[in-house]
Amino acid sequence: MADARVEEPRPDPATGPSEALLAEAGLRFEVDGAIATITLDRPERRNAMTFATWRGLASIGESLPAGVRVVVVRGEGPSFSAGIDLGMFSGGAQAGDAFPDGADAEATDAFIAGLQAGYTWLRRPEIVSIAAVHGHAIGGGFQLALACDIRVIADDTKFCMKEPALGLVPDVTGTKPLVEIVGVNRALELCLTARTVLADEAARLGLAEHVVPRDALDKTVGELTTALLAINPGAAVATKRLILEAPTNTLEEQCAAERREQIGRLRELFGAQNA
Ligand code: ACO
Repeated sequence: MADARVEEPRPDPATGPSEALLAEAGLRFEVDGAIATITLDRPERRNAMTFATWRGLASIGESLPAGVRVVVVRGEGPSFSAGIDLGMFSGGAQAGDAFPDGADAEATDAFIAGLQAGYTWLRRPEIVSIAAVHGHAIGGGFQLALACDIRVIADDTKFCMKEPALGLVPDVTGTKPLVEIVGVNRALELCLTARTVLADEAARLGLAEHVVPRDALDKTVGELTTALLAINPGAAVATKRLILEAPTNTLEEQCAAERREQIGRLRELFGAQNA
């Protein structure tokens, strides 16, 4: 069994993850002003993910430049992602990639938390994350799309939560957004049959905010990004915070949160002129 507590070198916040780390992770990472683009880049393996991929995503999140407001996650080649690299079930696709056996529950818990960290940062209020999905988005790939704030999908998209069919549970942060979007019963049906959801059904279920022809995916994501960047940055962050807490707040708590956020906005918009 691999050591579940492998220490990764932390990314330098000034430069981000190294090229070597990104290459091992099968990722590309580009920043253009306020827009960061993460590309899953193992097309010859349909962007299958290893533990290094999830750790690479976490590194990107840890060192994301402060000025980034929109993060686009996309896949190179015919598919967004075929999910976990099946080579890992037979001893590891890459060095150190064998599954922990769970014997040390505490260490395994920390190990999985480290993988989940690759996805959780995509919900930060400071950014809006967009999954640009085409082709297959299976297992960890589907969960990556679910970790993003907005899903723009091509009409050839095929979502599948495959983990239970492999004897696993979906554990990279996907179950909560899935249930929030489609409800408990549909989430159960999708996970416990591991069936494929095509683009039309995905749109009906709310799993996609936009469905577009395959060749219009990049253009649509570009237009969406432009629209998001046209919004006042402070208002965008405060509004995302509000929307994220709405599902778990009572009406009273949410009204209080709206007042609190608006006071901040009013101070920024009118404070200077009244000073
Ligand atoms: N892990 C490792 N290699 C993969 C994976 C994967 N998940 N998916 C595809 N590949 C490899 C194939 O073995 C093949 O390699 P080869 O060229 O050496 O033969 C290459 O990528 C291309 O795959 P094809 O199957 O030929 O591509 P196609 O476009 O026809 O099908 C599809 C794509 C549907 C994604 C298919 O490859 C597939 O079903 N893959 C497995 C998906 C899966 O079960 N993932 C696990 C999900 S559970 C989780 O994420 C926890």
